Amino acid sequence: MEDVLEVKGLSKTFKSKAGDVSAVDDVSFEARKGEVTVIVGPSGSGKTTLLYLLGSLESPDAGEIITFGEDIAAADADLIAYRRKRVGFVFQFFNLISALTTLENVMLPMDIQAVPAPEQRNTAMRLLERMGIDARLQKAKANKISGGEKQRVAIARAMANDPDIILADEPTGNLDSATGRVVVDILAGLAREDNKCVVIVTHDEGILEVGDHSFHMMDGRLSAM
Ligand SMILES: Nc1ncnc2c1ncn2[C@@H]1O[C@H](COP(=O)(O)OP(=O)(O)OP(=O)(O)O)[C@@H](O)[C@H]1O
Ligand SMILES: [Mg+2]
Repeated sequence: MEDVLEVKGLSKTFKSKAGDVSAVDDVSFEARKGEVTVIVGPSGSGKTTLLYLLGSLESPDAGEIITFGEDIAAADADLIAYRRKRVGFVFQFFNLISALTTLENVMLPMDIQAVPAPEQRNTAMRLLERMGIDARLQKAKANKISGGEKQRVAIARAMANDPDIILADEPTGNLDSATGRVVVDILAGLAREDNKCVVIVTHDEGILEVGDHSFHMMDGRLSAM
């Protein structure tokens, strides 16, 4: 399996008047295409911070994030291309745009990439169909659908530009357990069937079941399980 994420000595400290917080502390690991990596840890252990570093939504104080031969933590990295084409994000609170239909939400990342409109529409419809979002739900505004449907739309959106890496932050956090199971199985399917590198961070130990590689996070430190 090809390594797509090689993380070495990654650290991020937040400074505040109340004291410094070492949110991510000397973290190293690898994640591969076709595999699901699950990172479990309690609230405040640094999971979201780590995921944001991997997606270049935050910049680290130290360390390397090597992907396709490039260190995206380096000062001269092409972060815009990385964020737009290499990674897709799935969030706990879905982060859909409520005024847009579900179809438009999935088209949006392709629009930003200047994909022609008919192709945007076709790709979005195909991805939504696959997530079980039918023609009626594709026309619904994103705030008029259930939580499980929102998360499936969000996964379709994360896949829109066919990224290599899918980063999911607490993807089942706002779903009942049966719906959460469906979402986790879809994410695992992206690794197994689409050869994506899927990284899930969560406090939900039930997700460990689908992990090819599992880690525990505590006080910013990562350890293999
Ligand atoms: N922008 C920020 N500024 C200051 N401190 C922060 C910031 N973001 C996170 N922290 C702190 O860093 C630590 C790790 O936070 P993080 O959100 O990564 O944890 P988490 O494991 O995702 O928690 P949860 O399970 O509650 O989502 C916490 O102590 C948090 O208060
Ligand atoms: Mg978090």
